[in-house]
Amino acid sequence: MSGIVIAGASRTFGTVRAVDRVDLTVEQGEFFTLLGPSGCGKTTLLRMIAGFTPLDAGEIRFGERRIDRLPAHVRDIGMVFQNYAVFPTLSVAGNVAYGLKARRVPAAEIGPRVEEALAMVQLAGYGGRQPHELSGGQLQRVAIARALVIRPHVLLFDEPLSNLDARLRVSMRSEIRALQKSLGITAIYVTHDQEEAMSVSDRIALMNHGRLEQVGVPEEIYRKPATRFAAEFMGTTNLVEARALGLAAPVWVSLRPEALRFAEEAPVGWPRLPGAVVALEMLGPITRLDVKLENGSVMKMVLLDAPGQIVREGQVVTLAYDPSRLTVVS
Ligand SMILES: Nc1ncnc2c1ncn2[C@@H]1O[C@H](COP(=O)(O)OP(=O)(O)OP(=O)(O)O)[C@@H](O)[C@H]1O
Ligand SMILES: [Mg+2]
Repeated sequence: MSGIVIAGASRTFGTVRAVDRVDLTVEQGEFFTLLGPSGCGKTTLLRMIAGFTPLDAGEIRFGERRIDRLPAHVRDIGMVFQNYAVFPTLSVAGNVAYGLKARRVPAAEIGPRVEEALAMVQLAGYGGRQPHELSGGQLQRVAIARALVIRPHVLLFDEPLSNLDARLRVSMRSEIRALQKSLGITAIYVTHDQEEAMSVSDRIALMNHGRLEQVGVPEEIYRKPATRFAAEFMGTTNLVEARALGLAAPVWVSLRPEALRFAEEAPVGWPRLPGAVVALEMLGPITRLDVKLENGSVMKMVLLDAPGQIVREGQVVTLAYDPSRLTVVS
């Protein structure tokens, strides 16, 4: 089956345009992420695809087949929620079997398919356990197995890792990505975490106030943000009026902290900016600095840790920046 086409999808709640005329195509086998701040409409759009929230306008197709008026259970979709939504009174196997029983899959098929799904998420042999006997990461795997067991055309994830601790989030995200790749299944993944989105996605749609702000591969959105919102949401940046950098045009530019260096270490030809260090955070592999320029603006800068490197608050420095990394934003 081919990809997912969303055309003019809209949904209003009272006066809130939760999803506002969204056009989007997700390719077959793609890992596609909806990224954006709280309230921007990610969950609403995902629920529209799943069949839990009706559209006010627009349509959704799987290939040629229009699905937005079909009930959720015939859409061929598996969904994984933030809070696991694991039934506490059913065993692990009972939870995973649930969708198969609801679809009236023959009893003899259920056992092997449950085992197969549990094996995919590294939980082979856990079928007899009760949910309260599992860790958060294992519960989330049960939720993924439950979504996979029906062999869906599309997997939807709504912030599946937000209840896990930071380290587990990092390992689970690569596990989810590896599983999606090995199955070749189309995935739409919702997160508000820019780093998580960049680490797993083929493409990202950045959302803001119900609309798509920018769609692209992670590097593109990071390096060539189209708007001030995109530049700031996709990590730390310096948003400056070009005049502050000595350029004539009255436009806004984004300059990432890693595009700045101390002048002594920068190639000849990079523009110079004299200033003084006003704040400093040593984070291990990198040090973050705030440097106040002579015109009063503060530039954020990041340095890779290097032996013998000493930078102090108050130090007078000259910065230089890579002019090819200035991005004009609207
Ligand atoms: N059932 C509903 N009734 C009324 N308003 C709703 C409903 N569902 C969502 N909204 C509103 O629609 C907007 C988008 O909500 P949505 O849950 O899609 O955002 P989100 O991007 O998923 O946010 P978060 O990151 O906090 O989960 C919000 O303003 C929200 O309050
Ligand atoms: Mg949400």
